[in-house]
Amino acid sequence: MTKTAFAFDLGNGYVKAMNSKREVIAPSMIARESAVGSSSIFNILKRSSNKGYEVFESQLDDNTKYVWGEGITEAVAPESLIATYTHNDRYTQKRFKLLCTFILAELASDFTDEELLDVVVVTGLPSQEIGTEDERKFKEFLQQKHVVTRNGEQRMINVTDVRIVEQPLGTLLKLYMNNEGQFHEELLTSTLTLLDFGAGTTIMDTFKNFKRLPEKSETFYEGMNDLHRTIAKELEKQHNIKGLDPAYVDEGFRRGDCIAEVSERKKYAFEVIAKRVIEDFVDKRLAEVDRTLTNRDSVDKFIITGGGVNIVKDYFLEAFKEANITVIQDSQRANLEGFYKLASLL
Ligand SMILES: Nc1ncnc2c1ncn2[C@@H]1O[C@H](COP(=O)(O)OP(=O)(O)OP(=O)(O)O)[C@@H](O)[C@H]1O
Ligand SMILES: [Mg+2]
Repeated sequence: MTKTAFAFDLGNGYVKAMNSKREVIAPSMIARESAVGSSSIFNILKRSSNKGYEVFESQLDDNTKYVWGEGITEAVAPESLIATYTHNDRYTQKRFKLLCTFILAELASDFTDEELLDVVVVTGLPSQEIGTEDERKFKEFLQQKHVVTRNGEQRMINVTDVRIVEQPLGTLLKLYMNNEGQFHEELLTSTLTLLDFGAGTTIMDTFKNFKRLPEKSETFYEGMNDLHRTIAKELEKQHNIKGLDPAYVDEGFRRGDCIAEVSERKKYAFEVIAKRVIEDFVDKRLAEVDRTLTNRDSVDKFIITGGGVNIVKDYFLEAFKEANITVIQDSQRANLEGFYKLASLL
């Protein structure tokens, strides 16, 4: 019997997940089903025919129905959203485990019961957590029989094999491993420094011959969420308003119009503010990078990845001034693609 391959990248901001049939990108937030519909009428009207979430029930919490999916932030009011990500002991937290089982159930929904008897999962962790007790706990949790109900249909997913790698390694596998599992020469011989611009973190990881060089690697606990928050705060000051949710800034960036669209009537352009805030953010990260790296010349190639590339790339390239830099296209999905490549080889 062949194995069924699943891969996911559970970030501070977004879950990226993939099986052989499709890909899912959805916020790393869940909500109780009872919270649906408590959103403002504007949000309800804006909702398309596709509701943008599914309903889940897990063994971990038998009496509660939850919702999760790409449209969850539109369907549920911000105060009812349950963020799953913390830097503290997240592998033992129920909401984090719930989201993991929902991801598995979502990916499983494309397969028959039989195909779910032997599932292999590849995922990542922040690099400094690899080899720790946290990794062991996470793996132990994933590698078991999960029973999850999605939209009323209960499924059993038998996860028989779990591989956990450094999150940014996904990008390297995408770039330097072919579908037969062979590695490009460059991955084995060069010193490669990746910068992953995530929602909650900016990770710098340097790899040589698959080994992460800790003295040339560092995680900075600031990411695009902080940048969105700063911009939202500046908009509040400028327009004398209160409680502008940074999610509107995120959406404005993703649409590409740089407008925080709170409602049809309330729209705030942030392009000018953004330029300044982005420059400030990048300058700070560059100072940190140079502090850790002391000598950039020891690195053969730089690679920038993570969804934040879409936001910081122009100014980053201008300020970093290195010729040998690869800007990953479709950067938010890059780690996931590498994880999936690996999963499908197992
Ligand atoms: N095309 C895009 N345009 C603008 N912003 C984008 C785009 N794609 C992704 N982003 C933003 O990039 C940020 C980082 O996304 P990403 O999915 O890499 O973070 P994450 O993996 O969840 O976070 P972390 O790596 O810190 O755990 C998010 O705020 C996301 O909204
Ligand atoms: Mg990430």
